[in-house]
Amino acid sequence: MARKKIAFIGAGNVGATCAHMCFLSGLGDIFLYDVVDGLPQGKALDMLEAAPVVGVDVRVSGSTNIRDIEGADCCVITAGVPRKPGMSRDDLLKVNAGVMSTVGRAIKELCPNAFVITVTNPLDAMVTQIKRETGFPKNRVVGQAGVLDSARYRTFIAAELGVSVASVSAMVLGGHGDDMVPIRSHTTVGGVPVERLIPPERLDEIEQRTRQGGGEIVNLMKTSAYYAPAAAIWEMVEAYLLDRKKILPCAAYLEGEYGVSGCYAGVPVLLGAGGVEKVIEIELTPAERSAFERSVAHVRELVAAMDKVL
Ligand code: NAI
Ligand code: 2OP
Repeated sequence: MARKKIAFIGAGNVGATCAHMCFLSGLGDIFLYDVVDGLPQGKALDMLEAAPVVGVDVRVSGSTNIRDIEGADCCVITAGVPRKPGMSRDDLLKVNAGVMSTVGRAIKELCPNAFVITVTNPLDAMVTQIKRETGFPKNRVVGQAGVLDSARYRTFIAAELGVSVASVSAMVLGGHGDDMVPIRSHTTVGGVPVERLIPPERLDEIEQRTRQGGGEIVNLMKTSAYYAPAAAIWEMVEAYLLDRKKILPCAAYLEGEYGVSGCYAGVPVLLGAGGVEKVIEIELTPAERSAFERSVAHVRELVAAMDKVL
């Protein structure tokens, strides 16, 4: 069977780190695209030279010519500007929306059958712009945020209880902003509801740390996170290319699910060879539902703000 081609549009910290993970797991041929000459070519060659050591036989290449994404089966978009200290995700809106328009048009022309994972912030607006520019069906345009936000929540809960992260099952839904919604009622540790294991005030603190998880890293590194974001994207790429049928929290285009229409929001979806094969509806408590609705209202405001600056 022919190997799949994975195009990374943006070969900076997140894009290249995810490409490296996909390379190491031999998921497909890797192509890196970036506007900075030398960067995608150099990172691709560096990665390729590790192939004999790690024992993978995939092609790795890079260029500053967007036409080289042609024929990609999966596109990962991280192109744009990352958040700097003191800068909100929303500040990134204008510059990154322009990048999405260019990139979206190129994907539509050159990779008409691709599954597209948008990562660039502000995520919920950027994935909306990619959906509009590509005109692709909703199952083939998805945003990454929930896998990362849920991974942070799971990490903090596991550390609190001194258990393996593998024993913590949790989901963070809504938009990828400070009002994202950790779903406490569906969070379990070894099958036991987390509310039986951690007092509510402490869970409040853990959830607040989760909401500010991106900012915590920015404050430390003076640029945004990339190891955990790359791992989150990798899980989505893998679920698609290997038809894993994983249920993962992703930014999906909703048409009535969760009472939301015509808007992207982080919800559990079934990811497989058909892309977003299904939106999974879980029961939320009244408080979680209100928080989800507030978060979705913020996504709509963000999209409206984008439309003003575009
Ligand atoms: P980075 O600055 O390391 O990489 C971005 C790359 O995009 C740079 O190499 C830059 O040259 C390139 N670029 C800029 N304009 C371009 C264009 N028009 N075409 C192609 N490439 C272009 O930034 P990093 O850390 O990789 O973050 C990338 C984006 O992902 C940021 O917007 C960041 O906020 C976002 N992000 C989103 C996360 C999420 O969970 N949704 C998590 C982490 C980051
Ligand atoms: C994060 O959550 C910056 O969105 C990015 O780390």
